[in-house]
Amino acid sequence: MKLIEFIDLPDLGDERGGLSVIEGGITIPFMPKRIYYIYGTDSSVSRGFHAHKELEQMAVCVSGTCEMLLDDGVYRETVHMNSPKQVVMIPPMIWHEMHNFSKDCVLLVLASDHYNESDYIRSYQEFLVNYR
Ligand code: TYD
Repeated sequence: MKLIEFIDLPDLGDERGGLSVIEGGITIPFMPKRIYYIYGTDSSVSRGFHAHKELEQMAVCVSGTCEMLLDDGVYRETVHMNSPKQVVMIPPMIWHEMHNFSKDCVLLVLASDHYNESDYIRSYQEFLVNYR
């Protein structure tokens, strides 16, 4: 089973430099209500370790590199994120972890809804037992 799904972003770069574009409902399947970004994370630090009940997210490494692990309770897959031209989908009910951030990593995340702690499943055991 393939958990990692990439979307290639339109590349409008030219001799002046890169330009990638994300349009809600066009390049990605939802209209983002929230945008956040993770940066300045030491390579020894891992983040995430949760799933969402309903939230859809898309992540793109706009600078640097990191690893994204997705887990549906049966399968685990890790992808090396190293391109500002590709977004990775983080669907609901997928456990995700982020590892091995490079110093210059800026991981941009587009979310389908506002922040809501009750949408989080932060225990892997709870994820496995209650939601699979
Ligand atoms: P957390 O979910 O632990 O980050 P990560 O998944 O990257 O490890 O978020 C850190 C804190 O920030 C936590 O207290 C929740 C809060 N937070 C918000 O208030 N709004 C947000 O949009 C996000 C993503 C986090």
